[in-house]
Amino acid sequence: VSLAPHNSFGIVAKARELVRVRGEAEVVQLLADPALAGRPTFILGGGSNIVLTGDVRALVLKVEVAGRRVLDDGPRATIVEVGAGENWHDTVAWTLDQGFPGLENLAMIPGTVGASPVQNVGAYGVELQDRFESLDAIDLQTGRPFTLDATQCAFGYRDSVFKHPPADAAEGGSRGMGLAGRALILRVRLRLPKPWKPVIDYADLQRKMAETGIRHPTPRQIFDWVCAIRSAKLPDPRVIGNAGSFFKNPTVTPEQCTDIIAREPGIVHYPMPDGSVKLAAGWLIDACGWKGKSVGNAGVYEKQALVLVNRGGATGGEVVTLARAIQTSVYERFGIRLEPEPVVV
Ligand code: EPU
Repeated sequence: VSLAPHNSFGIVAKARELVRVRGEAEVVQLLADPALAGRPTFILGGGSNIVLTGDVRALVLKVEVAGRRVLDDGPRATIVEVGAGENWHDTVAWTLDQGFPGLENLAMIPGTVGASPVQNVGAYGVELQDRFESLDAIDLQTGRPFTLDATQCAFGYRDSVFKHPPADAAEGGSRGMGLAGRALILRVRLRLPKPWKPVIDYADLQRKMAETGIRHPTPRQIFDWVCAIRSAKLPDPRVIGNAGSFFKNPTVTPEQCTDIIAREPGIVHYPMPDGSVKLAAGWLIDACGWKGKSVGNAGVYEKQALVLVNRGGATGGEVVTLARAIQTSVYERFGIRLEPEPVVV
């Protein structure tokens, strides 16, 4: 089975076998099949946050659980339940159409609803964890269904329990048991608080407000602005293969930051509530002269240096080689190690 249509980087790779999963009954049946039991599995959502570096030998489970419904429309929040296979952006648009705002800042994020908790998707001042109620998953080892709340998901910046291997606990990790590869997310419940409050602190949104003179935007206006901002600086994966930001924005201590600013006065940085300082990885990469550069068919996007793109026919190996070269030059100039954001398979 070709995986090219199943990864937003458009990397050509194959899987021995791909099974579509539409509900838990199917997973239970699959796990009971002696021909498949014990075989390593790889869970695939929209494929918008992976880099395939070769063929996948594991059994690929393509999550296609469908359905969207309003579970509870109470005085303090609306809870909606969405199947893991539903498209994220369509779901954001659907909630707005239903009259339940709160997800507008997260418009146009590629991928599926089931993948959104894995990396705790975030944009323009809102993260999934701010709108998360709980999720249903199934344990691929035992076949048992279970539910997790936000605390149990251990959300962090582009991070959750689903990104950490079960072995993390053995390594003395403080996050406890990781669930990477072990939990297949079936449904996500989103919590849209009432009354709605706009989140408009982000510089790009402030700019839109200044441009339009709108001081009290509606959810729909914020949605439209976010779509416009993203279209202007992020490549459409249907046209140019990519996986969004390729690195996380690194955080440093205030002391480290003062030190770097002394050397690099222009560095883009944001103070965090916990006292640390977040640096714009895109700026660091840009400052090293990488914007628009390529290694083979993998390149650095012209309008946003944090996004690596497939210029046509790139292999996962080329993407990883380019990423390493960027990491090396950022480290040599700034002494900062950039951490990749997508999952390298
Ligand atoms: N910048 C440069 N050169 C560049 C790119 C950025 O100087 O080539 C500067 C910008 O001028 C800006 C700053 O870096 O001052 C930050 O750039 P931007 O606002 O585009 O956001 P980002 O930090 O690069 C993050 C997320 C995006 C998210 C946006 C908006 C991460 C890893 N990335 O990008 O998320 O959409 O903020 O909230 O946190 C993703 O995760 O895939 C993603 C696209």
